[in-house]
Amino acid sequence: MILTNIKQLVGIQSEDKLKTSGFEMNKLNIIENAYLQINNGKIIGFGKMKDLSMDEIEEVEDLTGKLVLPAWNDSHTHLVYAGTREKEFIDRINGLSYEEIAARGGGILNSAKLMEETSENDLYAAAENRLKQVMNMGTGAIEIKSGYGLSLNGELKMLRTIKRLNEKFDLTVKATFLGAHALPKKYKNNKEKYLDLIIKEMLPNIEKEGLAEYIDIFCETNYFSVDDMHKILEAGRKHGLKPKVHVNQFTSIGGIQKAIEWDAISVDHLEVMNGKDFNALKNKSTIATLLPSCSFFINIPFGPAKKLIEKNISFALATDYNPGSSPNGNMNLVNALACIKMNISPEAAFNASTLNGAYAMEISKNTGSITEGKLANINVTSNINSYGFMPYSFGQNHIERTMIKGKWIN
Ligand code: NIG
Ligand code: FE
Repeated sequence: MILTNIKQLVGIQSEDKLKTSGFEMNKLNIIENAYLQINNGKIIGFGKMKDLSMDEIEEVEDLTGKLVLPAWNDSHTHLVYAGTREKEFIDRINGLSYEEIAARGGGILNSAKLMEETSENDLYAAAENRLKQVMNMGTGAIEIKSGYGLSLNGELKMLRTIKRLNEKFDLTVKATFLGAHALPKKYKNNKEKYLDLIIKEMLPNIEKEGLAEYIDIFCETNYFSVDDMHKILEAGRKHGLKPKVHVNQFTSIGGIQKAIEWDAISVDHLEVMNGKDFNALKNKSTIATLLPSCSFFINIPFGPAKKLIEKNISFALATDYNPGSSPNGNMNLVNALACIKMNISPEAAFNASTLNGAYAMEISKNTGSITEGKLANINVTSNINSYGFMPYSFGQNHIERTMIKGKWIN
């Protein structure tokens, strides 16, 4: 298949470029008036229209007036969940903070209760719906976490649901086990016992069924400590799971340093950062992941995207799609919020949402940019003048069509 007369082909990278960082994030390589050639689910060529020889091509699609970009890579979500939490939304409007709601037994524990009451089939149906919605907004690969089960059966139910989504859809779905998301009521005064349950019961079963690739922990004041993280990541490694962790959302307690010690693939949130935290991230393979829609929704500081660029620390942008802190999986909105509230350029936001998102899921060799040999995971826009129009017209979706592994999904 060949896509022709593309107004702008955006996000071209060389094969060896696996992530962008520093001021190079402010650059997007573009070809005006371009073609893109696809075969067997992969990009096999691109260039200027005037250089295209059409001899043996069978299928042609004319994209006059449209931009083509790599599909979004959303590297941090909790898209599998039961029920919703709009009551907490009202509580926050009336003055309670996210942390105060959690301290009253709401928050994550609220979702855990709803999870317990929901069958695997109903859970799957709701998640499938959400996944279709985000794919229609341009997401071409996604990471999904467990963490609302908080029991052996609950966590397995969530992870099996994620596996089923991966089997049903063409898009890449990466699974992360987040047993240490909150302390269940039952273990209120016995955290060690819950950690034991994770380590001795959940992890062996997850490995046996091949249900996850990554391990996560909510390392935060009033949730899990840095020592807890050490235990969990150590146990995870024994079962072949690599760390992608929640750190520095409300307080800086040393989680970043500990995660790096365990070769974390990514450290996510980072709304609260001190000098030591920035230093720990310099020249590391671990990528930061910022979640602007979470900051927006629960009214907390936005992650320090601009500073990370200045310090040459690579970061991805993701939605954090979940019922408590970001009930929205729209990567277009994430891009707009990153530009508007974190003050970064549309180019930096695009790079963070495409190639760097792929890096945060360890798939940037195969996707995240327009590169020969990579998967044909692309977004086609409506007739807009420039890619900057997308974050500028915030809250709207200008992705008209999405192709995943060479197939149009809409
Ligand atoms: O990434 N911070 C921890 N976990 C989620 C929120 C979970 C929830 O409130 O349901 C997050 O923000
Ligand atoms: Fe999260």
